[in-house]
Amino acid sequence: MSSRLAGKVAVVTGAASGIGRATVARFVEEGARVVAADLQEEAGRALARELGDAVRFVRCDVSDTASLKAAIDAAPQAFGGLDILFSNAGAVGSIAGVENWDAAAWDATFALLLRAVVAGASYAVPHMKARGGGAIVNTASISALQAGYAPIAYSTAKAGVLHFTRMAATELSAHRIRINAVVPGFIATSIFGGMLGMDAAQSAELARAVAAKSGSANPIGRSGLPADIAEAVLYLASDGAGFVTGTHLTVDGGLTIGPRHAWDPDTPGPMQTALGISREQAKAMREAAARARG
Ligand SMILES: NC(=O)c1ccc[n+]([C@@H]2O[C@H](COP(=O)([O-])OP(=O)(O)OC[C@H]3O[C@@H](n4cnc5c(N)ncnc54)[C@H](O)[C@@H]3O)[C@@H](O)[C@H]2O)c1
Repeated sequence: MSSRLAGKVAVVTGAASGIGRATVARFVEEGARVVAADLQEEAGRALARELGDAVRFVRCDVSDTASLKAAIDAAPQAFGGLDILFSNAGAVGSIAGVENWDAAAWDATFALLLRAVVAGASYAVPHMKARGGGAIVNTASISALQAGYAPIAYSTAKAGVLHFTRMAATELSAHRIRINAVVPGFIATSIFGGMLGMDAAQSAELARAVAAKSGSANPIGRSGLPADIAEAVLYLASDGAGFVTGTHLTVDGGLTIGPRHAWDPDTPGPMQTALGISREQAKAMREAAARARG
């Protein structure tokens, strides 16, 4: 066991599942004490039992600012201070498009994905100033960078998370508080089941299937796992990233390096697609060209 977070106290939201859960475990491994905040009471309590005295579970709805503030204030109450906030709770939210846009659904999605990130930072700052500094990490998404990965409300809110992170760094650097975002790609978690209306058990089953089968979706050739994101969050939260603020770290196995044909030679590119060339034909043409070159 190493100790990159020895003596540190963290709050992690969305801690009962997926990326948040993996991050709580990784933080504890590195010596931190953690307030694990989540809506899901049973799973949150199970995590705290599993990890012992270093973890305190607090039931929290991050969309409710009073509930979020209480979870953040729980860190100094339980462990004597606050050094790290990982604002990570999330769900897919509204799937409406532009034409069937709905104000209430949009507002609820933004309260969860963007307002909670802003409010969380605001509530954490006084505690971090009292410690002489701190680190905030916010979970964005590759859907903040490109179209094609999530609905419009989710993607726009996550883009807001990225720019809020930059803007907040202009103010918080003077207090030695760093703020950065992690940008996950396609990660095998329960979030997809939640979007499909599945219960927790079904969502966990779907996450296991995604973990087993999604390797070919990523240039790097394997599935993205919560632990991959936890490792990046650990870096951004630790003193090793002491000169890093106002930016983001994309952890996506290369998914956003370019369209599929850029990294998968058997996928037809725009010209081949325009000419109606199939994947099989593109592959055969590539192999014939290679043979011709010897
Ligand atoms: N899995 C991916 O591919 C992916 C990609 C990009 C970004 N993300 C983001 O990662 C973050 C974590 O998601 P995940 O993939 O681990 O999914 P997950 O469903 O496994 O975990 C999300 C957690 O957030 C909690 N949560 C949801 N609404 C909440 C609320 N109002 N208050 C408190 N807790 C709440 C859930 O109970 C759950 O425990 C989210 O912000 C998500 O948007 C995920």
